[in-house]
This record gives sequence, structure tokens and C-alpha cells, in this order.
Amino acid sequence: MPYTQIAGTGHCVPERVVTNDELAGMMDTTDEWIQQRTGIRERHWIREGESGAGLAKVASERALAAAHIDVGEVEAILFATVSPDHMAPGNGVFLQRELGAGMIPAIDIRTQCSGFIYSLSIADAYIRAGVFRTILVVGAEVQSTGMDISTRGRNTAVIFADGAGAVVLQAHDDAAGSAILGWDLHSDGTFAEKLWVDAPGAIYHPRNQATHIETKGFAQMDGKEVFRHASTRMPESVRAALSHAGLSASDLALLIPHQANLRISEMVQRNLELRDDQVYNNIDRLGNTTAATIPIALDECVRAGRLKRGDILAMTAFGSGFLWGSAVLRW
Ligand code: UT7
Repeated sequence: MPYTQIAGTGHCVPERVVTNDELAGMMDTTDEWIQQRTGIRERHWIREGESGAGLAKVASERALAAAHIDVGEVEAILFATVSPDHMAPGNGVFLQRELGAGMIPAIDIRTQCSGFIYSLSIADAYIRAGVFRTILVVGAEVQSTGMDISTRGRNTAVIFADGAGAVVLQAHDDAAGSAILGWDLHSDGTFAEKLWVDAPGAIYHPRNQATHIETKGFAQMDGKEVFRHASTRMPESVRAALSHAGLSASDLALLIPHQANLRISEMVQRNLELRDDQVYNNIDRLGNTTAATIPIALDECVRAGRLKRGDILAMTAFGSGFLWGSAVLRW
């Protein structure tokens, strides 16, 4: 059975930086509140004319270049996003077109903040089963155009942001080489309405209603409930994924937690008894880019030399669904 390695990483965030002070000019909030409660100082939002597929294209090209792989060698695309450019088709096909890839499968994965971890696990299963040998996995979001940028929406508008991250996965046969060693995935739909976007949805007749724009069309979040579950589920899941790989938290060289809130990452770190240098956070600069946080952070770590061959890396996510999961790799 082949092993799955990450052969290259890339990311792209829009040029436009939005500071907390800028948000304070749009709603009743302060830089101090946002930094204290979330750890965020600034984030990136797209300008008109930019798109999620466009950010994904740049991230993917960087990942392909890092892997020294021509786009023609990619056998499948997995595109994790909760914010596709259009309701249908999904962003996978737009990326396939933009990249000039072959007529390969392009699959959108809708598992919100856990989208990258879920996509990674699916790609790993394809590779280990011998279905494909080279897969492009992308997490990309444009959250800024879907938020309620007013005091009413301030508990989500200050958190969510735009960006894209990509990895190229490749099959190889070296048992001692870089590989995905284990993963752990869960859902609990009991909490579906604790973080959701109600409309547009096919349950409504008709699906698109003008009144929804001001009511059900924005993300609604019970922040405290999400916080409580996220801070316990992520460490639990990291331990489970490590255990599937025959490892424990003391083996970890680096943990990349989903960048939901710096306070959540700090609780995950404490729970797993990790030092500051074992946990990577960039939420202060980038906010919460949903399915893109982990591949963006991974690319930053790779380019900064934070990972060396043989290091044990864990990545973990929690979000809307509730859906959560983790992956453990030997770098
Ligand atoms: O990606 C995964 C999904 N998301 C998450 O993981 C997010 C998890 N949750 C959180 O990060 C936090 O719950 C938040 C940062 C969203 C909110 O922090 P909190 O400490 O849980 O605040 P809260 O929602 O309980 O609100 C406390 C107060 C409220 O005012 P009152 O009712 O006490 O007068 C809010 O209206 O803070 C108010 N508030 C704000 N004030 C200033 C909420 N958002 C803001 C804001 N600026 N942006």
C-alpha cells in the first residue's frame, strides 16, 4: 500500500489588510475588545474583482512549484470551502479551469472549518487505495462578502477573513519516508444551529427570498458554545489521531490548530501540555479563514523552516456542524 506525503505547499491572501481600528469605524467594537477576546489584530479581505477560486489558483501554483510538479500531473482536486464563488457549480471546477488542469475529478468538500482536515483524509484514502498518485488539496474562503458588517454581526464580522492554502499530495513507497500516519474525524449535528448560515436553502419556498438577506443570510454563532466545544474536542481529537499512529503528545514537534480564536489555541496547547514553540498561530495577522487556516499556516511553517524531515506534525480543526478532526504526519 503506498504512503501519502505532502510534496509541496502554497498560500495566498488578498492584498487588502483590514485592521481592528478600521472595523471599529464600521460597527460598535474596539481594537482592545477584539485583541483581548480573539487575539486578532488584522485580517485580509478581497477587493472587488478578486475571488476564492482566484486566491486558490495562486496558492495552488505556489504549492505545485514547491513540489516541482506540473499541473498536468495532478490527478484530482479536492476543494474545501464554505464560501464558493457561486451556489453551483462548486469552486473545484473553477480552479481546474483556472489552473489549466486536465479533465480530472474536481470535488468540493463542505465541512466548514474542518474542510481541510476532511479533504486531507479523503485524499490520503484515495492515495493509499491506489486510486490516484498526485492530488491537489485546497482550502480557500471569501468570508468578507458574506458577513454582516454592522454592530448586529460584530461577533462574527471581527473574526472571519479571506485566504487560500494548498498542498500537493503524492504517493510513494518508502515506509520510513514522510507520510500521513493517522487521522481522526467526527461530527455532532445536535449543534448544527450553533454556527450556521440558514439561507439561502432548498428548504425554503422559494429558496431565494429578499427578507432572508437581512435575517437568515448571515452567519449566526453562539460563540460561547462553539468556544466550549472547540477547546475540548480539538485536544481530544489530536490524542486520538496520535494514538492511531501509535504516538502520543510528547512525540509532537509541531501542532497547527485551526485558527478560530487565539484563546482556543492556548487552551488546546495547555491541554496537550505543549510549549509555545510547539504550537503555530498566525490568527493575529490573518483572522479566521475557515477551511484555509491550516494549509496557510502549514505553508508559513514550511517556508520559515519550522519543520525538518522526520518531525511529527499534528493539525486539528473544529467548526460548524459541529464537525472536527485531526491529522498526524511524519514530515
Ligand atoms: O472557526 C470556528 C468557529 N468559531 C469559533 O470558534 C469562535 C468561538 N467563539 C469565540 O471566539 C468567542 O465566543 C467570541 C470571540 C465570538 C465572543 O467572545 P465572548 O467572550 O464569548 O463574548 P460573548 O459572545 O459572550 O459576548 C460578550 C459581550 C456581549 O455584550 P453584552 O451582551 O455582554 O452586553 C456581546 O454583544 O461582548 C459583546 N460583543 C462585542 N463587543 C465588542 C460581541 N462581539 C463584540 C465585538 N466588539 N466585536
